[in-house]
Amino acid sequence: MYNYLLTSSLWLEALVKKEVQKQWYEITEVQDKAIYFSAGEEAIARMNLWSRFWNVLYFIVWAAKRVRDFDAYFDIVYQQDWRKYIPEGFEVVVNATSIKSELWAISTLQWVAKKAIVKSLVWEGKLRENSDKWVIEIRILMDNDTLRIMLNTSGDGLHRRWYRELTGQAPLKENIAAALVILSGWKYKQPLYDVFCGSGTIAIEALMIAKNIAPGMKRRFAFQDWNWISRELLDEEKKRAESKQFDGEYKIYASDIRKEVVESAKRSASFAGFASEIEFSCQDYKEALRKASSWYIVSNPPYGIRLDEDDAEGIHTWLAEIFAQTDIQGGIISSDLEFEKRGKTKFKKRKLYNGWEMCYFYRKL
Ligand SMILES: C[S@@+](CC[C@H](N)C(=O)[O-])C[C@H]1O[C@@H](n2cnc3c(N)ncnc32)[C@H](O)[C@@H]1O
Repeated sequence: MYNYLLTSSLWLEALVKKEVQKQWYEITEVQDKAIYFSAGEEAIARMNLWSRFWNVLYFIVWAAKRVRDFDAYFDIVYQQDWRKYIPEGFEVVVNATSIKSELWAISTLQWVAKKAIVKSLVWEGKLRENSDKWVIEIRILMDNDTLRIMLNTSGDGLHRRWYRELTGQAPLKENIAAALVILSGWKYKQPLYDVFCGSGTIAIEALMIAKNIAPGMKRRFAFQDWNWISRELLDEEKKRAESKQFDGEYKIYASDIRKEVVESAKRSASFAGFASEIEFSCQDYKEALRKASSWYIVSNPPYGIRLDEDDAEGIHTWLAEIFAQTDIQGGIISSDLEFEKRGKTKFKKRKLYNGWEMCYFYRKL
């Protein structure tokens, strides 16, 4: 058994936890933005592939309690089998985080770890740094004096899928978009509509959820370059994931008032392989909602704070009223704390961060 850490956005921990449990892995600890679990080696491939809500999967090389001085810290880092973990010729990045620990100086934690790793490597006298390819990230986590030495198995954050062309305004991260679809309570057989679709991410993530497509199927992961992980592992997990896909028909619509944004969203959907499965159109949200009066809405209207050219306030007032007056279900993500007061409908509120902005997902009750 090995130990792992999944990092998550704040307030998405419960969703991440459920996904780990779905794979029958044992959760050992849950903290803010961190879910620890233990599992076999296959979890490296499986959890990277099924990365719907989390950011990075770390493999925990070693954990030690009560590490309170740098000599002990150096020795523990030095004793690890770095020749196994660092493929020859790779750049190494050492990052460190310290929470409520005696060893708190980040730059010293990084510097000492690098010294210890270099000393334990025979094949090379120094670590190559600061390049953007062939990188292996070693992360040092000091948490209440417990040291964890970890390897980033994912590489780039897992919210970065592979399909997205970025020309929209204030796009949601893919994992947040996926979370909204789940939090909205959408039952996949109902038509789903995003009336402020921007990059189309909500619609694309919704289709992937409905079809049970593993979000990491077409991207690369850092662990694919490691020779201590069997090459077949990822292929086997991909085959397993493919066997779990559904081939149903789903009605998913997405529109935006900006033509160039809709064109770009269409290209992303087509890149994702969904060219004919999401119906895109260019129109004002009022017009779109008139046609969709009993559908499921999952949307991210303009915020005002980030995009001030749209009439964010007018849009929020109109949306609150339409939720109150029609059978439209679902909800919106918004940083507008007054949203509920604008109409006469009750919403279930769920806190979320969109980038650095605190928001709520307002789901109509
Ligand atoms: C916050 S962004 C949505 C971002 C999107 N969720 C994504 O992930 O890319 C808001 C979008 O609303 C669109 N918009 C603004 N006013 C609109 C209107 N009256 N009708 C429809 N869309 C509008 C903007 O063009 C913008 O793409």
